[in-house]
Amino acid sequence: MAKKLKIGLFGFGCVGQGLYYVLNNSTGFKADIVKIAVKDKTKERSVSKELITFDKWEILNNPEIDVIVELIDDAEEAFNIVSEALKRGKHVVTANKKLLANHLEELYKLQQENNVSLLYEASAGGSIPIIRTLEEYFDNEELEKVSGIFNGTTNYILTKTINEKLSYATALKQAQEKGFAETDPTSDVEGFDPKYKAVIIALHAFGLIIKPEQILNLGITTLHDNDIKYASEKGYKIKLTPVIQRLENDKVGILVAPRFVKETDQLFNVDNEFNGVIVEGKFSGEQFLQGKGAGSYPTGAAVLSDISALSHGYKYEYKKHVQKHASDFTNDVFINVYFRYNSIIDLDKIEFDEITEKYTGTDYNYIVGKVNLQTLITNRDYILKNNLFISLVNDKIELNTKTKISIKEKQLINN
Ligand SMILES: NC(=O)c1ccc[n+]([C@@H]2O[C@H](COP(=O)([O-])OP(=O)(O)OC[C@H]3O[C@@H](n4cnc5c(N)ncnc54)[C@H](OP(=O)(O)O)[C@@H]3O)[C@@H](O)[C@H]2O)c1
Repeated sequence: MAKKLKIGLFGFGCVGQGLYYVLNNSTGFKADIVKIAVKDKTKERSVSKELITFDKWEILNNPEIDVIVELIDDAEEAFNIVSEALKRGKHVVTANKKLLANHLEELYKLQQENNVSLLYEASAGGSIPIIRTLEEYFDNEELEKVSGIFNGTTNYILTKTINEKLSYATALKQAQEKGFAETDPTSDVEGFDPKYKAVIIALHAFGLIIKPEQILNLGITTLHDNDIKYASEKGYKIKLTPVIQRLENDKVGILVAPRFVKETDQLFNVDNEFNGVIVEGKFSGEQFLQGKGAGSYPTGAAVLSDISALSHGYKYEYKKHVQKHASDFTNDVFINVYFRYNSIIDLDKIEFDEITEKYTGTDYNYIVGKVNLQTLITNRDYILKNNLFISLVNDKIELNTKTKISIKEKQLINN
């Protein structure tokens, strides 16, 4: 039978208040919020003063509280709170992707050592139940790829620039006015936010614990009208998409970059603040999930679902990690990209392995071809500083041919 949980809530902003609302308006599930910790002593609150505290220890040291729900906007303080809670034998629910991606290893260990559960469905894809789908439905099937749109802010901006021909700056301003983008949108527009989500998904889809610094993230800050023109003329939309893919050598390649998406792609019609996730299984083929990637109630609903799962004693088993589904992570791969550049010096920096299309004009220049991911990692700062733009032209990550040859050689030797 489900246990009625006593909750200590950290944070009463967009998601905290969303959770409070959905919990109080849920017909099926009941739990008590015993205390809410917040930071700003001057803010007016919509709940009684007795519920509010400014002292985290009042919650962490309360033996009556068995679940901590962490919904603050400070990843380092969130780590302190979450790790203290786990050490004290309290279960935790969080929506904080930055906290998770930066501390996956420690948080995984803390759960095992203290025999407690840490759930975080809301941290990736908002209300899309991607983590539990990977954990529970695809727990034994080998996956080939997980990709999609994991960031509502940039999808909103890109939708407005492509569909309504707004400039990047106007679309960003509109996203901020509508509350989709934060005052400092860096994490979203530079692709850090979807990268944190890719790190979390890589653990549940492939069993790998990867540091965010190991993964390339190119955002949309250098998107120019000429890139939009190029994409529109070809009938493409531009989406910021993480790609997490198993390679022939059983390693996994990951990157976050803008991508040209064709009309036949599932992600083509995932517009505005919506998110979409595509999971490709070895036997089941392609699955597509779409939903609201952010927002007070959708995110609150995902948090509520985790709290409800806790009441039934639910824990992630991390089967793919335990069973070592993928052998390792690698950046020694090739990707096919469109590269808008300024001068010949840029082409000396970003060396292409193959070129399939080239244009040199008075207005702008571009190349389409195959490049080693490591080249882009080495020159990330150069690309951003010089306002160059990179977009994937498909969602395929290819193993470096030299590595491919060595696999074939190995097979020949083994035979
Ligand atoms: N917004 C979304 O749609 C969304 C979607 C998915 C995941 N998330 C994640 O959910 C988390 C919360 O996001 P949000 O949008 O709800 O943020 P938010 O609206 O900015 O609210 C943050 C809350 O955290 C409180 N806070 C900050 N530092 C604190 C501290 N040291 N101790 C106690 N309380 C503290 C703030 O207190 P005051 O009220 O006193 O200022 C505020 O109530 C973040 O990790 C975010 O990445 C958000």
